[in-house]
Amino acid sequence: MTRPKIFLTRRLPPQTMETLHEQAELKHFDLDRDLSRSELMRGVADVDGLLCLLTDRVDGEVMDAAPQLKVVSNYAVGFNNIEVDAASQRGIVVTNTPGVLTDCTADMAWALLMAASRRVIEGDQLVRSGNWTGWEPLQLLGQEVTGATIGFVGMGRIAKATAKRARAFDMRLLYWNRTRLAPLEEQQLGLEYVDFDKLFGECDFVSVHVALCNATHHLIGARQFESMKPNAILINTARGPVVDESALLWALTQGQIGGAGLDVFENEPDLESELRAMKNVVLAPHLGSATISTRERMGSIAVQNCLAVCRGENATCRVN
Ligand code: DGY
Repeated sequence: MTRPKIFLTRRLPPQTMETLHEQAELKHFDLDRDLSRSELMRGVADVDGLLCLLTDRVDGEVMDAAPQLKVVSNYAVGFNNIEVDAASQRGIVVTNTPGVLTDCTADMAWALLMAASRRVIEGDQLVRSGNWTGWEPLQLLGQEVTGATIGFVGMGRIAKATAKRARAFDMRLLYWNRTRLAPLEEQQLGLEYVDFDKLFGECDFVSVHVALCNATHHLIGARQFESMKPNAILINTARGPVVDESALLWALTQGQIGGAGLDVFENEPDLESELRAMKNVVLAPHLGSATISTRERMGSIAVQNCLAVCRGENATCRVN
C-alpha cells in the first residue's frame, strides 16, 4: 500500500515522529520554529494530509494551494486556527484531539488559581531575591480558596474536570453555558446554573472554558469586570481572545478585580506589556496540555486522524 504524503509543520514528541516516519511519506518542517505563511503554502502543495499546530493559520487560501489535500489534522483540541467552513466547502476533513488533554488542562487551571490566590510567584521571587527576612504575620496575604465561590464560563470537558477539583476544595460552583446541563448532571457535579451576567458578580474566581468562535470573541470585557468583586481572580486556560485583554488590564489597574491567572493571550506570544509588571497576575506560556504523556497522546490521535482520512477511512475526531 502506498504511504500517504503528510506535511507536518513542527517536530512533535518522539513516538509520534516514529509512527509518522513508519506509516507516511513525511515532509517535515525541520527548523524548530513556527513556519511562515509562504513555507506553509509551499509545504501543503503536494500532500494528502496536513498535520498542523494551533499556531498555524489554515484558511481557504492555504487549502487552495493544496489540490490533493484530504485532511487537516490539528494537534490541539481547539481549532479556531482553521477555517472549518472553507475546509467543508472543499471536501477537506478537519480533525482535533479532544479528551486526552482534559485533566492536564484542568490541572493547569487549578495551578494558576492556586498560584494567583496564594501569591506563589511573589513568594518565590522574594525568597530567591535574598530579601526575605523571615516569617511575618502580614506578609503576602492571599485569598482563601477553600469554601470560596467559583464560576465557570462554559461547561465542556475541561470545565467539568476543573469543577471536580473545585469540589474537593468545598467550593460553591456556579456555571454558565450556552446549553444548560441536564438536572441530574448538574446535581452530580454539584453545579448551579446562573445567567451569564449574574455569574460575574457572585464569584471569587471565574474560570474561562469556552471555545473561541465569533460568538465568544471578547465575551468577557469591561462590563463583566465592572460587576466582579474587587478580590475576584480571573483564570483563562481556554483561548486569549475570549477575554478583551485591554479591558482586563484596565480592570486590574483600577482594582476592579483582584488578579488573574493566564495561560492564553489575545495575540500570542505578545501580550499587553503592562501585564508583565503586575504582581497580582500569574502568566504562563500556553502550557495547558504541556505534559509528556498528554503531548504523546495528542500526537497519537492527531496521526491516527490524519492517516485514517488519507486512507479513505473514518477519523475518530472529526470536527466537520
Ligand atoms: C489545545 O489543544 O487547544 C490547547 O490549547 C493546546 O494543547
